[in-house]
Amino acid sequence: RRIVVLISGSGSNLQALIDALNTPALPRAHIALVLSNRKAAYGLTRAQNARPPIETAVLALQPYLKTNPGKSRRDYDLQVAKLVAKHNPDVVVLAGWMHIMSEGFLDVLSGDAPYDGEHKVQKPIPVINLHPALPGAFDGAHAIERAYEAFQKGEIKHSGAMVHRVVREVDRGQPVIVQEVEINLGEPIEAYEERLHKTEWDIIVKATAKILDEVAPISS
Ligand code: GRF
Repeated sequence: RRIVVLISGSGSNLQALIDALNTPALPRAHIALVLSNRKAAYGLTRAQNARPPIETAVLALQPYLKTNPGKSRRDYDLQVAKLVAKHNPDVVVLAGWMHIMSEGFLDVLSGDAPYDGEHKVQKPIPVINLHPALPGAFDGAHAIERAYEAFQKGEIKHSGAMVHRVVREVDRGQPVIVQEVEINLGEPIEAYEERLHKTEWDIIVKATAKILDEVAPISS
């Protein structure tokens, strides 16, 4: 069962997936590609250090637009989708991917649009995204800081993290796994963040395994 992971940063969630490969948590799974939109993303190093090494690619938006004058953000997203689709994944995991994926990307992965002018994916490829907040609570960027601030102001009792299906509205897809994370009054944000990231490492593996079992179950 084939996974493609999209990253932008340190890749600690990618590392959680790498460490879980072919363990009971994530049996019979293979990461076919790690794609980053930033060449400096340490997650690329984690993929290259994996044994066996995991194929990596970098497709950064600004350099793409500069070297392809006249091309748009939508063309970039189609290029990302094409690179992903060619690796024939059973699931695509957005693990800290800092771009909002446009409809073009989802049209390709759902099989509605060709990814190179003629070929289409055979069956819809599920895309899941890790988001460090509870459903509908702090959509969008800086969710960790916003939740922490809201807690300190007494507006919320706790926060959490979730993995959800990627649909066209940002961070609004059906949750696959949701895990509440407590915040302690007066604790520094770093303490909360550390607890939250540990939760993410756990649910990103569980959510990926759950989707794989849906789309490519292991016939025991
Ligand atoms: C995670 O906190 C994720 O929720 C957010 O970006 C961070 C990615 O961290 N979208 P890493 O690159 O996996 O370490």
